[in-house]
Amino acid sequence: MNYRHAFHAGNHADVLKHLTLSRIFALLAKKDAPYAYLDSHAGVGLYDLAADQASRTGEFLQGIARLWQASVVPQVCADYLRVIHELNPDGQLRYYPGSPELARQLSRAQDRLHCNEKHPQDGQLLKENMHFDHRVAVHLGEGWHVPRALMPTREKRAVLLIDPPFEQADELERCVKALNEAIGRMRQAIVVIWYPIKDARQLKRFYNQLTGSSAPKLLRVELLVHPADDATRLSGSGLVIANPPWGLEDELRSLLPWLAQALAQSAGDWRLDWLIEEKPTGS
Ligand SMILES: C[S@@+](CC[C@H](N)C(=O)[O-])C[C@H]1O[C@@H](n2cnc3c(N)ncnc32)[C@H](O)[C@@H]1O
Repeated sequence: MNYRHAFHAGNHADVLKHLTLSRIFALLAKKDAPYAYLDSHAGVGLYDLAADQASRTGEFLQGIARLWQASVVPQVCADYLRVIHELNPDGQLRYYPGSPELARQLSRAQDRLHCNEKHPQDGQLLKENMHFDHRVAVHLGEGWHVPRALMPTREKRAVLLIDPPFEQADELERCVKALNEAIGRMRQAIVVIWYPIKDARQLKRFYNQLTGSSAPKLLRVELLVHPADDATRLSGSGLVIANPPWGLEDELRSLLPWLAQALAQSAGDWRLDWLIEEKPTGS
C-alpha cells in the first residue's frame, strides 16, 4: 500500500468526485429521511495543501486552486466551495476536505457515516480527524468488504463511494464486483465508483463489465484535462453512479462544459451518458 492521497488532494480528479458528491448530498437532502454514507477507501479525511506531500506535487494548483480563484462559478458549486471556505476562513487556500470531511459537513443530524481506511497510519489520522463527530464511525478494515459488512444499512437510503488507489491490476474488476454486491444487498443504493482515465483498453473492458452489472441504472461522467491518447498519464477521470438521484444528470450536464474549460491543462473535454438506462416499468 504505497499510495497516499495527500500527494493528490484537491487535483482535478478530486474536484470532479467531490463536486459530484456534494450534489448527491444536496439532492438527497430534499427529503428528510436519513441516509447512510459509506466510504470504502476513505483516506485521511482532511488535507493540508501546505504540507510536504501536497506541495511536492502541486497537483491542487491545477485543481481546486483554479475554482478557488475563479471570479464566477456555477451555482451548483456553492455547497462544495462553502465547505472549503469554512475550512479556510482567512481566504487562503490551505485545507482541503477529503470525501469523509465533505460528507460530514454536508450531511445532517439524522444521517450516519461509515468511513473505512486500511492504511494503518492514514486510518489513525482519519480517526483523529473524525473523532469529535458521533455520526461518523471509522473502520480500519478491508475496503472491498464494505458492501457485505455494512449493507443493507438500517437507513433505507445509502450512498457508497468506492475510491480505491488503483495500484493493482485487478482493481477495476473489483469495483464491478463491489458494485454488484452492494446492489445485491440494497437495490436502491447510490453507488459511486471513481476511476482514472489512462489505459483505453482496460477501460473498454471495464465499461463492458459495468454494462453487464446488476445496477438498475448507471450514469457515466467523465472529465478530461488532456486528450486521452497517452496510457502513461492521467488524462482525466470518471465516475459511474448507480441509481443517481433525480436531477443529478441535468445538473452535471450544465456543469461539465464549464468545468472542462476551468480545469483543462492541454485540452479539456467531458462526457455524460448512461451505461445502463432505467428499464421501463412492466418490462
Ligand atoms: C484515492 S484514496 C481515497 C480518497 C478519498 N476517498 C477522498 O476522496 O478523499 C484511496 C485510499 O484507499 C486506501 N486503501 C488502499 N487499499 C485499500 C483497501 N484494500 N481497503 C481500504 N482502503 C484501502 C489508501 O490508503 C488510500 O487512502
